[in-house]
Amino acid sequence: MRKKLAAGNWKMNGLHGNLQEIKNISEAVNADTCDVLICTPSTLIHSASDISNDIAIGGQDCHYNASGAHTGEISAEMLADSGASYVILGHSERRQDFSETDAMVRDKTKAAWAAGLTAIVCIGESLAQREASNTIDIIGGQLAASVPDKATGDNLVIAYEPIWAIGSGLTPTLDQIGEVHDYIRTRLERRFGTGVGRSVRILYGGSMNPKNAADIGQVSNVDGGLIGGASLKSDDFTLIIKALS
Ligand code: PGA
Repeated sequence: MRKKLAAGNWKMNGLHGNLQEIKNISEAVNADTCDVLICTPSTLIHSASDISNDIAIGGQDCHYNASGAHTGEISAEMLADSGASYVILGHSERRQDFSETDAMVRDKTKAAWAAGLTAIVCIGESLAQREASNTIDIIGGQLAASVPDKATGDNLVIAYEPIWAIGSGLTPTLDQIGEVHDYIRTRLERRFGTGVGRSVRILYGGSMNPKNAADIGQVSNVDGGLIGGASLKSDDFTLIIKALS
């Protein structure tokens, strides 16, 4: 049985003052709630992990090399050293803004695994791709090329994030979410075997909020959410955690 995961993605938001939000969420988390993760900006990982008792802390990207002359970049080992246990990789904002390819995401995932981090690999179609009925092909291609061999239920989480749903207030129908999540599950089982394929968590991301989280969380093969905007306010994020638990 996969335990649900509520993962917050703070993106480029948050200063030290916002650590109070993490304290508030920590207080609301207990043994009955789902697993909770907050991926803060790198500058907050260390302090956040110091105060977050039952909450995991993660990064939002890492370099595919372990170290070296890469000005401005951060390695997976540095994230782990700061207190992160997860890292988001291949988010559509990075694929779009920094031209990240599936091959780069795959190499970053290998780097994350080498540092002992769990990689949350993001995949998702654009609106044009959905309207052209290409969603399943796009998802299949991204999944095959972005995830390296040797995945396990501990080192990999997949996040299905339709690009058009991110930050837009729009979400796919529950049937559309279920279709993609079932497909991802089938592909994982086929590639990694049923044991591993069934143990990898598949998150839904894109305009998840306190109102839709319970319904989305009940769709087959939805093992939680990757939550952007609504993870910035502890009240909203706590409601989502409860809805997913
Ligand atoms: P959103 O972002 O919840 O604000 O739509 C989700 C994400 O980009 O991970």
